[in-house]
Amino acid sequence: MALFSNTYLVLSILSLLACAANGQLSPTFYNRTCPNLQSIVRSVMAQAVQKESRMAASILRLVFHDCFVNGCDGSILLDDTPTFTGEKNAGPNANSARGFEVIDAIKTQVEAACRATVSCADILALAGREGVALVGGPTWNVPLGRRDARTASQSAANSNLPGPSSSLSTLISMFAAKGLNARDMTVLSGAHTIGQARCTLFRSRIFNEANVNASFAALRKRTCPASGGDGNLAPLDVRSPDRFDNAYYQDLVARQGLLHSDQELFNGGSQDAQVRQYSTDSAQFARDFAAAMVKMGNISPLTGTSGEIRLNCRKIN
Ligand code: HEM
Ligand SMILES: *[C@@H]1O[C@H](CO)[C@@H](O)[C@H](O)[C@H]1NC(C)=O
Ligand SMILES: *[C@@H]1O[C@H](CO)[C@@H](O)[C@H](O)[C@H]1NC(C)=O
Repeated sequence: MALFSNTYLVLSILSLLACAANGQLSPTFYNRTCPNLQSIVRSVMAQAVQKESRMAASILRLVFHDCFVNGCDGSILLDDTPTFTGEKNAGPNANSARGFEVIDAIKTQVEAACRATVSCADILALAGREGVALVGGPTWNVPLGRRDARTASQSAANSNLPGPSSSLSTLISMFAAKGLNARDMTVLSGAHTIGQARCTLFRSRIFNEANVNASFAALRKRTCPASGGDGNLAPLDVRSPDRFDNAYYQDLVARQGLLHSDQELFNGGSQDAQVRQYSTDSAQFARDFAAAMVKMGNISPLTGTSGEIRLNCRKIN
């Protein structure tokens, strides 16, 4: 009993310290200033995912692409203009990043309820969480209080985001550059249990690689031939493409990862044991994924009086 309460005390102090260290993000940041925020985000996301279940995946990917490029500051949401180059046309985002209209729809309702109060970066973080929960995944408390960037960086979007042909060591080092360790990288990659990828990004995997299940490769070649069909989509998780579960890791163990970068997590290297564990323990995956999303959400937020509360997520005030 004494041991338990001491442990509890230490954990409470640690979580207070962690809170202070990440720029004062707090799950209750808007409780007084925008009490309906979370229910607004939930209802707009529920409609969007009902209309198209892939939207849960598309929004979750936006969270990743926001946070990895100069921090979780809503920079990915800014449109290009004749005098401003944003991130939407960077290699990893062009013809690929999607779901911006859903963020706009949430922002419109949030502005109507609480004007000039909630950042686009926080709306995106909450929308990502709701999407995951709506398709069967875990939920978690989202620390809030981020502010929106007044800048964006196409070059950082090109250089800080890993690509589908990345090796395991590149994946590990690109996540390490953001303060995330190899375990975080492997569990966050589990986001690929939902969503789709274009043929052009996995063609060489299904045609040229050795570490791929032959009947899986044959199945994918039906809609991703040796030439043509570059934009044809295939599910990242062959087992349950629209459900947020641990099947992605079962795919990897069966050598049915869609992207080269996916299969790198289970190719005789350092992450094999973690992949095997998640393939049989969905509860552990769900817990670790939720914790890693909070950690990713803490990458260099703007807080206090830095940045701004954008009124329209697509443009600087
Ligand atoms: C580990 C390194 C990662 C690489 C190399 C990677 C790469 C990719 C690629 C190439 C696509 C397909 C894009 C297209 O076809 O246009 C994709 C889709 C996706 N990624 Fe990742 N990704 C990584 C990590 C993550 C993380 C950490 C998350 C979120 C936590 C994430 C979430 C998603 C989702 C949900 C989709 C599907 C989006 C949709 O259907 O609209 N990815 N990723
Ligand atoms: C803050 O708001 C959230 C979401 O509405 C709610 O779950 C939570 O209980 C509130 N917390 C406090 C301390 O009021
Ligand atoms: C490849 O996948 C198919 C379909 O899931 C399975 O029946 C087969 O046993 C797998 N082949 C190998 C060599 O693992």
